[in-house]
Amino acid sequence: MSDKRCVLITGAAQGIGKCIAALLLKNSMRVGIIDIQREKLARTKTELSALGEVFVYRGDLGDEDFIRQSIADLAEKAGRLDAVINNAATAVNKPITELESEEWNRVLSVNLTACFLTAKHAVPYLKKSRGSIINIASTRALMSEPDTEAYSASKGGILALTHALAISLGPEVRVNCISPGWIDTREWQDAKPSGIDELTPEDHSQHPAGRVGKPEDIANMALFLLKPENDFITGANFVIDGGMTRKMIYE
Ligand SMILES: NC(=O)c1ccc[n+]([C@@H]2O[C@H](COP(=O)([O-])OP(=O)(O)OC[C@H]3O[C@@H](n4cnc5c(N)ncnc54)[C@H](O)[C@@H]3O)[C@@H](O)[C@H]2O)c1
Repeated sequence: MSDKRCVLITGAAQGIGKCIAALLLKNSMRVGIIDIQREKLARTKTELSALGEVFVYRGDLGDEDFIRQSIADLAEKAGRLDAVINNAATAVNKPITELESEEWNRVLSVNLTACFLTAKHAVPYLKKSRGSIINIASTRALMSEPDTEAYSASKGGILALTHALAISLGPEVRVNCISPGWIDTREWQDAKPSGIDELTPEDHSQHPAGRVGKPEDIANMALFLLKPENDFITGANFVIDGGMTRKMIYE
């Protein structure tokens, strides 16, 4: 049985989740990745397997049985489970008068309820490994553009779920949250989506840090939070947004 740590990452077929998976593999961990996209998940598995051991689970995070079975299978195959990174998300952005209850419920289910369910089913393994949970929220938990009620509410819920879990599961299991700002994920997509504009100098310069974020900015924070020597950190939310939520824009 391997003594390498094993981390489950949801929504890791592309984007930030895939970048986190690659960084953890480069740091001698094993990863289990969940995603709903069959072909992309298969391609990502092939790509990431060059870096280390990868277990894949194709399914819908709206399905509790799928979540329970994936976690049990990963813990059995890997012989341990050290962390869960809840990264998958979906959005339906439209005026509230047009937002259907089913759409609201689906966003809350994938973005928030799945964080509860992965925690629920992973806790026995995480207690054994003295592991941790990292939830990926968003600066939209703290501030908004119009017509983003479902996504913003789901991300705000993740902040509260994070501190609630940290209090319930400590001291064996630490639970933290990362809230990204604008992260340009195109380098971590399968193919650069057509019709998407290049970033402009203004996109970068509006950030106090002088640039738009990269998936590596989030992956580095996740790696930091997984380090056993950082075990004084729990119940916290880390905003990684180049300073945007600290900037007043009154004109
Ligand atoms: N990119 C940004 O600017 C940004 C900003 C703030 C927060 N975030 C958060 O970071 C995380 C990753 O963002 P990203 O830009 O890489 O997203 P992305 O859309 O590129 O990747 C999300 C992944 O989740 C998967 N997924 C969605 N619904 C699923 C379901 N029901 N079951 C299983 N898998 C499912 C998708 O297939 C996809 O591979 C998300 O939680 C997002 O809300 C991103």
